[in-house]
Amino acid sequence: PYRIAVFASGQGSNFQNLVDWANDGKLGAEIALLVCNKAQAPVVERARKAGIDCLLFDPKAYASRGEYETEIAAELANRGIDLIVLAGYMLLLTPVLVDLYAGRMINIHPSLLPSFPGVNAIGQAWNYGVKVTGVTVHLVDGGMDSGAVIAQQVVHIDEDDSIQSLEDKIHTAESELYPKVVSWFAKGRVHISGRKITVEHGI
Ligand code: GAR
Repeated sequence: PYRIAVFASGQGSNFQNLVDWANDGKLGAEIALLVCNKAQAPVVERARKAGIDCLLFDPKAYASRGEYETEIAAELANRGIDLIVLAGYMLLLTPVLVDLYAGRMINIHPSLLPSFPGVNAIGQAWNYGVKVTGVTVHLVDGGMDSGAVIAQQVVHIDEDDSIQSLEDKIHTAESELYPKVVSWFAKGRVHISGRKITVEHGI
């Protein structure tokens, strides 16, 4: 099977959604590992309940990011991981993992990139007052939310929306888009040519 590792630091709603798709046989991929930097994060309990191995590490126990990433890389190799799926992973990655998994590491971001990169993207869009925002799935490169775009889904901000209802809409859009993109990778339908990414048979 096509094997993925999910990296997450927080709530894990995207992780849970990928687990649900996998259990329904719709993902076309096996979630072989969760990698997490926060022992107390709710996503850890979700993995335990789902019977998915969890690699927990404390960044403060290492001298540099490259050091723990080297350990993670060894675990990924042992498990034959095909694709890294970042889902609310709140640490920047170094070339140790970015180069090793170039073209095979994806992230989801809660805005229409290149607008509102970085933290609190939903709040940034809300405060800016845009009428249209959304979610972006992109390849991970060395920068902050700067990799080539694979797919985006639009979310409209209506007059009766609040920041809370906007967050709900964004999370719904994420739950629709992310597992689809993972399934495209699993089927070998994603073709990368520099920043131009095409999905065979359409998105
Ligand atoms: C998601 O909204 C994801 O797009 C965002 O963190 C949230 C994680 O939620 N990621 C970023 O902001 C990355 N810059 P989750 O833990 O419930 O899946």
